[in-house]
Amino acid sequence: MSCLQTSSLLLCVVAAAAMPTVPWRVRCPPQCVCQIRPWYTPRSVYREAATVDCNDLFISSVPRDLPEGTQTLLLQSNNIARLEQSELDYLRNLSELDLSQNSFSHVRDLGLKDMPQLLSLHLEENQLSELPDGSFPGLGNLQELYLNHNQLRSIAPRAFAGLGGLLRLHLNSNLLRTLDSRWFQMLPSLEILMIGGNRVDAILDMNFRPLSNLRSLVLAGMNLREISDYALEGLRSLESLSFYDNKLADVPKRALQQVPGLKFLDLNKNPLQRVKQSDFTNMLHLKELGLNNMEELVSIDQFALINLPELTKLDVTNNPKLSFIHPNAFHHLPQLETLMLNNNALSALHKQTVESLPNLQEISIHSNPIRCDCVIRWVNSTDTHIRLIEPQSTLCAEPPDLRRRHIRDVPFREMTDQCLPLISAQSLPSRLEVAHGDNVSLHCRALAEPDPEIYWVTPSGAKLVPFGAGGRYRVHSEGTLEIRGVAPAQAGLYTCVAHNLLGADTRSVRLLVNHSFPLGRAGLQLAVADAQPFHVLLAWKPPLNAVSSNLTWSSSPPGARAGSARLPTGTRSYNITRLRPGTAYRACLRVALADSRAEVSCVSARTREASPGRGLPGGRRGLLTALALCLLLLLVGAALGTRRGAGEPPRGAPRAVRVLYPLHPALGGQPWARGQRGGHLLAVEVQEAPPDC
Ligand SMILES: *[C@@H]1O[C@H](CO)[C@@H](O)[C@H](O)[C@H]1NC(C)=O
Ligand SMILES: *[C@@H]1O[C@H](CO)[C@@H](O)[C@H](O)[C@H]1NC(C)=O
Ligand SMILES: *[C@@H]1O[C@H](CO)[C@@H](O)[C@H](O)[C@H]1NC(C)=O
Ligand SMILES: *[C@@H]1O[C@H](CO)[C@@H](O)[C@H](O)[C@H]1NC(C)=O
Ligand SMILES: *[C@@H]1O[C@H](CO)[C@@H](O)[C@H](O)[C@H]1NC(C)=O
Ligand SMILES: *[C@@H]1O[C@H](CO)[C@@H](O)[C@H](O)[C@H]1NC(C)=O
Repeated sequence: MSCLQTSSLLLCVVAAAAMPTVPWRVRCPPQCVCQIRPWYTPRSVYREAATVDCNDLFISSVPRDLPEGTQTLLLQSNNIARLEQSELDYLRNLSELDLSQNSFSHVRDLGLKDMPQLLSLHLEENQLSELPDGSFPGLGNLQELYLNHNQLRSIAPRAFAGLGGLLRLHLNSNLLRTLDSRWFQMLPSLEILMIGGNRVDAILDMNFRPLSNLRSLVLAGMNLREISDYALEGLRSLESLSFYDNKLADVPKRALQQVPGLKFLDLNKNPLQRVKQSDFTNMLHLKELGLNNMEELVSIDQFALINLPELTKLDVTNNPKLSFIHPNAFHHLPQLETLMLNNNALSALHKQTVESLPNLQEISIHSNPIRCDCVIRWVNSTDTHIRLIEPQSTLCAEPPDLRRRHIRDVPFREMTDQCLPLISAQSLPSRLEVAHGDNVSLHCRALAEPDPEIYWVTPSGAKLVPFGAGGRYRVHSEGTLEIRGVAPAQAGLYTCVAHNLLGADTRSVRLLVNHSFPLGRAGLQLAVADAQPFHVLLAWKPPLNAVSSNLTWSSSPPGARAGSARLPTGTRSYNITRLRPGTAYRACLRVALADSRAEVSCVSARTREASPGRGLPGGRRGLLTALALCLLLLLVGAALGTRRGAGEPPRGAPRAVRVLYPLHPALGGQPWARGQRGGHLLAVEVQEAPPDC
C-alpha cells in the first residue's frame, strides 16, 4: 500500500488486503528470515517478493551468501557503516534495499555503483551529512529514495544526477538551510517530495519549477514565515500540499494561485490570526482544506472562502481562540458536505453560514462555548436535515440556565428572533503588552440578530468607526482595530462596542506600551449644552481610560420624574428628555475608570418655561407622547405579565424601558443575561416613575 500522510490529509493510492507470507525455501543466512512476502512497487503495483529479513541483528556488515534470487533485502536497525560493491552486486534481482537505522556517514561508503534493478533504497536514520555530485551512480531505475532523518547540511546541485526515474524522495528532518532548484532539475519524474523538518528560512521563487510531475509536496515543520508569490510556480500536477507546523501569519494566497490543480491543502498549526477576505479564492479543484490547531486564529472573515466548486470537506478544529465565523464567510462552495468546527471558541454559527452551503450533510460544532439564543436556533429547525456530529457533546454554555443542556433539547421555538450582540471573550485579551513601534491588531467580533455594528473607543474617548479612522488607527468593518507603530502615547484602555437595535456589548483591552499604562487625570466636567422646556442636553469630555458611564438625574426639590442611563464608552453627550418645564434638575455623571477608580461630576440645570405661544401644541405633543408611552408600557407590561405569569411588575422596579430588552423566555422574561458578564453593558435608560396614564 502506498499512503501519503500529510498530518491530517491522507492520500492513499491503493489499499489492498495483506497477502499471507510464505516460507521461501533457500539457504538463508544465519539469524535472517527468508520468506515470500507481499510487496508493492513504488507505483503501487502488487507483487510478491523473495525477501531476506535481517533486521535488528546488530551486525556491522552485510551477511555473505545471500540467496541469489533476493528481491527485497531488509537490513534495518543494524550497525553497518560500509558496503562494498561486491557484497550485493550478485543480487541481480534486488529491487528493494533497506539500510535505514544504520551508521552510514558518507555516501561514498555505499558500494551501490551499478544496480539498475534497484527500485527502492532506504537510507533514513543514518548519519549522512552531505551529498556530493553524482551520489547515486548506476541506479538509473531507482523510484524511491529515503534520506530523511539524517544530518544533511549540504546537497550538491547534481547530487541526484542519473535518477531521472525517481518518483518519491524523502529529505525531511535534515539540517538543510536552503533548497536548490538545481537538485530538482535531475528529477523530472518526481511525484512525491517530503522536505519538511529542515530549518529553511524561505522558499525562493521558482524553487520547485522543474518538478512538473510532482503530485504531493510536504513542507511541514520548516519555520517558514513567508511563501513568495512564485514559490510554487511550475508545479503543474500538484494535488496535495502541506504547510503543517510553520510560522505563516498569512495564507500564502498568491502562491496558491500558481497551483490550480490542488486538491488537498493543509495549513494546520500556523500562527494565522484571521482568515481574511479572498484568502481562498477560485481554487477550482480543492477538495479538502485543513485549518486546525492554530493557537492564534480568531476569526474567519466575510468572503474568506470564495468559489471553491469542488471543496467537500472543511476542517477548522482545535483553534482555542476561534470565536467568529462571519455569516458570509463562505460563498459558492456548492459541494461542501462536511464542516468540522469542533473544539473552537465559537459561541454561535450563524444560520446564514449554514444556508450558504447547499450541499451540507454534516456539521461538527461540539466542544464550543455555544450560546443558546436565537443565532443558533436553526439547529433545531425542522427544515434542517443536517446531521450533527456528536450531538451528545454539543451543549449550551450560555445563558446560565441552559448551561450543559443538549442543544437539540433547547426550546428554541419559544424564543424571539432577535438577540443582543455578545463579544466573544476569547477574541480579545483583557490586557496586552506591546513594545514601542509594534503594529497592534485587536480583534473584536460579535454575532447577533440583527447583525451588530462595531466601533472602538480610544483611551481618550474618541470613537473610531470602520473606514472613518485615520492616522495610526484603522478599524476594519469586521471589527479589527489596527494601530500602526504604536507609541507610549497610545497606551491605555481601548473599548470595543458592538451594538444592534436591542442593545450593546462592550469589551475593553488594557494596552501597555513598553510597560507603561497612563493613569486617568482628574477633571471630569459635566456641562449643560442646552436647556429647553422638555429636554436638557448635557455634554462632557470623557476622562482617560473610561470603562463606562452612568448618568442619573432628578428634580430638586424632588417631585418630577427621575432617571438614570448607563452609557457606552465614547458617549460625550446625552439628551435628557420628557422633563417638566420650569423645573430645577440636578444631574450627575459617574465614570468608572480602568483602574477601578471613578470620577463624578454633577451639574444643575433649570428647564425653560413652556412658551405660551407654543403651549397648546406643546401640551398636545406632550399628551400624545404620554399616550404613546402608556401604550408602550401596556405592551411591555403585557409581555412581562404573560411571560412572568404575573399581572404587575414588582413594586419599586423600573417601569418604563426606553430601549426594549429581548425577553428571553428561558430567563423568565428577564433581560438577556443581565449582569452575568463583567463589562457587559446594555444601553438602557430607566425612568423610575411612569407617566400618569
Ligand atoms: C530473476 O528474475 C527473473 C524474472 O522474474 C527470473 O526469471 C530469474 O530466475 C530471477 N533470478 C534468480 C536468480 O532468481
Ligand atoms: C426541537 O426541540 C424540541 C425540544 O424542545 C424537540 O422536542 C424537537 O424534536 C426539536 N426539533 C427538532 C427538529 O430537532
Ligand atoms: C507595521 O506595518 C507596516 C505597514 O504594514 C510595516 O511597514 C512595518 O514593517 C510594520 N512594523 C512592524 C514592527 O511590524
Ligand atoms: C521599548 O522597548 C523596546 C524593546 O522592549 C526597546 O527596544 C525600545 O527602545 C523601548 N522604547 C522606549 C521608547 O522606551
Ligand atoms: C447608576 O447609578 C445609580 C446610583 O449610583 C444607580 O442607582 C443606578 O442603578 C445606576 N444605573 C445603572 C443603569 O446602572
Ligand atoms: C433632544 O430631545 C428632544 C426631544 O426628543 C429633541 O426635540 C431634540 O432635538 C433633542 N436634541 C438633541 C441635540 O438631540
